[in-house]
Amino acid sequence: MSVPKAPFIVLEGIEGAGKSTQIATVEQACADAGFDSVVTREPGGTPLAESIRDLLLSSPAEPVPPHTELLLMFAARAAHLHNRIVPALEAGQAVICDRFTDASFAYQGAGRGVPEPDIAGLEQLVQGALRPSLVLLFDLPVETALERVAARGNENRFDKESGEFFERARRVYLRRAEQAPQRYVLIDAAAPVGAVSAQIAHAAKAHLAAWA
Ligand SMILES: Nc1ncnc2c1ncn2[C@@H]1O[C@H](COP(=O)(O)OP(=O)(O)O)[C@@H](O)[C@H]1O
Ligand SMILES: [Mg+2]
Repeated sequence: MSVPKAPFIVLEGIEGAGKSTQIATVEQACADAGFDSVVTREPGGTPLAESIRDLLLSSPAEPVPPHTELLLMFAARAAHLHNRIVPALEAGQAVICDRFTDASFAYQGAGRGVPEPDIAGLEQLVQGALRPSLVLLFDLPVETALERVAARGNENRFDKESGEFFERARRVYLRRAEQAPQRYVLIDAAAPVGAVSAQIAHAAKAHLAAWA
């Protein structure tokens, strides 16, 4: 998998953090910096990967083993990378993605207990050296996030997870951000929408300037 020729910006954080709300802010920052952009999400982003998303977010009449969940995530990711993300980056378009592989470490790893080296192995298999150029990590207290999810409606299998699950996910997100500070920007996602937008616009602008 080739190294990006354009920015690959990912929004990460637990359910209710405000990622989807802020996608348009990142899109605007890309436009302001002169980039065409592709807005996409995981799991999903292509017809095949969206079909896998439907499987992942539904609640089948049997337990979903952690490895089933993990492998479906990476199966979807492989299609998304090959058929959408990499072609866009190679064409010089910025890619803005609502969640990516950090979510696998946070949810299937910390949340479900899959060992990290197993996830890192799949990351290497599916992505090679390709990583996001910038991860905007939306951080906020789990309690606040869960209140927002409750107000929005518990729509899918992940929305219904426990506070403990999201505490573990949050900790792993924060640890990953600490380990690679050049690629992560921590966003105070508990702030009002306008204040979050301002943080996002500032971080995206600084990142995009490096590609000019
Ligand atoms: N900064 C914010 N303050 C208060 N509520 C917010 C904020 N950002 C988003 N919301 C609301 O919280 C809910 C979850 O936001 P959403 O963008 O769907 O989160 P995510 O995509 O991270 O799960 C939505 O109802 C949204 O309107
Ligand atoms: Mg969302």
